[in-house]
Amino acid sequence: MANPILAEEIQKRRIFGIISHPDAGKTTLTEKLLLHGGAIREAGTVKARRNAKFATSDWMEIEKQRGISVTSSVMQFNYRDKMISIMDTPGHNDFGEDTYRILTSVDSAVMVIDGAKGIETQTKKLFKVCAMREIPIFTFVNKLDREARDPLDLMQELEDVLGLPSVAATWPIGSGMNFQGIYDRLENKVFLYKVDKEIQLGEDGVFGPELEEELSSFNLQNLRDEIELLEGAGNDFDRELIDAGKLSPVFFGSALADFGVTPFLNHFLDMTPAPGPRKTINGQVEPTDEEFSGFIFKIQANMNPAHRDRLAFFRICSGTFERGMTATLSRTGKPIKLSQSTMLMANERETVDKAYAGDVIGIYDTGTYQIGDTLTTKKEKLFFEPLPTFPPELFALVLPVNTMKAKHFQKGVAQLAQEGAIQVYHNEYNEIIIGAVGQLQFEVFEYRLKNEYNADIRMNHLDFQLARWVKTDDLEKVKRLMDSRTMLVFDHFDRPLILFANQFTLNYFVERHDDIELVEALDVTEEF
Ligand code: G4P
Repeated sequence: MANPILAEEIQKRRIFGIISHPDAGKTTLTEKLLLHGGAIREAGTVKARRNAKFATSDWMEIEKQRGISVTSSVMQFNYRDKMISIMDTPGHNDFGEDTYRILTSVDSAVMVIDGAKGIETQTKKLFKVCAMREIPIFTFVNKLDREARDPLDLMQELEDVLGLPSVAATWPIGSGMNFQGIYDRLENKVFLYKVDKEIQLGEDGVFGPELEEELSSFNLQNLRDEIELLEGAGNDFDRELIDAGKLSPVFFGSALADFGVTPFLNHFLDMTPAPGPRKTINGQVEPTDEEFSGFIFKIQANMNPAHRDRLAFFRICSGTFERGMTATLSRTGKPIKLSQSTMLMANERETVDKAYAGDVIGIYDTGTYQIGDTLTTKKEKLFFEPLPTFPPELFALVLPVNTMKAKHFQKGVAQLAQEGAIQVYHNEYNEIIIGAVGQLQFEVFEYRLKNEYNADIRMNHLDFQLARWVKTDDLEKVKRLMDSRTMLVFDHFDRPLILFANQFTLNYFVERHDDIELVEALDVTEEF
């Protein structure tokens, strides 16, 4: 019989990530959500966390120097009867592979879009990861207090650019100087912006008389036309499609003005799922399964360089975690006592004694774990679906400055590669080439090699933007085809890849050599 305490704890939990292009308002929205949940008392706290002044002593030096968050953590708050965790995904320049991997630990995503700009590049990339996982995606169109684009156009853009149909949960009444408020279609309520008032509309919704009185100087015809169009031609609220990530409920508002955030939060909580089953290599695991299981999705070099310890970010997929328990590491089959564990919160790290399916905890690691590892108390071998690796977009050739220290250099490179901090390749001459999805990954790599492995490096940026694995029986032929805009390299399983200068070079190559198969994303261990 299912454990009722476990089942109740799972039902309370909601774990999501916020994705956006830099400056769309992710931090501001996060902050408002935390304020609503009483987790922080003043606006500015989340921003302040990114500020050097507030960086706590155990953060990596580089974070302090740059005032950014390399570490991502979980921000937790209670609202209504729910315990909500926002997985913080690094943004701005600190964008890296971690950002993608964090999205493998969440059960839903909120996509924040700047109402004046629409969908931007980084949103597109992050969206792809969410789409791959088929998790529900909620859209918050932000900055309505400024002049915004036509809301119907923005919804059309979701469909055209991302292939994501949407359904409006709330609807804006004007924008910028003329921003009057939002209409909550689900509650049939209007929230007025300038006078900060809520009106419950009658049976006729926006077509009834209630709004006319309040918005006498506003031309309501436009709003009514839009609502008519949404009702006639828009998508229905199909919960099945929403749950599968195939239909996105859209909300409008201003995170800065904390307007439209409450209706968003309430509807979001009604629709976003509690932790559900997780796929394994040969089936799935239910969260209510009594046996403990979960996987590591990120390893963070820990805070104390003297000990070189690390923190493994672990998503619990089933059962209950208790500090001191023993679980088996599936990759090696060895039992491990999980004695040091921590809850990852915005600013503090608290020891955690008990945690449930859906929670993310930090486990201290002395070099035992790898990204994607499964830990479980189940008797049978269990492996959660492998985390995908993402093709890097930035490349550099690295050399040790001091060849006498080549050993330190090699050891450091190997360990950082194993940690998943960076992609490491070699060319035919056994030179090392590193690949990243964000510039900061290079900086962190350089910093850690110097500080943890005492190896100074020289880094030459390479003019390539794309990498594709190449499946071929005739590697010699591929070698002959390489020119100044392509380069053949090998990953640490010795699988060949071609680096391309840009999309044009790649397309040209594909057109001319249709006998050579190129692959964009691979499972970590797939062999060929
Ligand atoms: P990000 O995390 O997605 O990168 O965005 P962030 O919340 O930091 O917001 C980026 C900028 O946009 C900030 O201004 C922020 O105040 C502003 N902003 C966020 N939401 C809204 C909104 O609803 N309306 C308006 N008008 N502005 C909004 P900044 O000047 O770059 O920073 P700050 O000096 O205000 O901190």
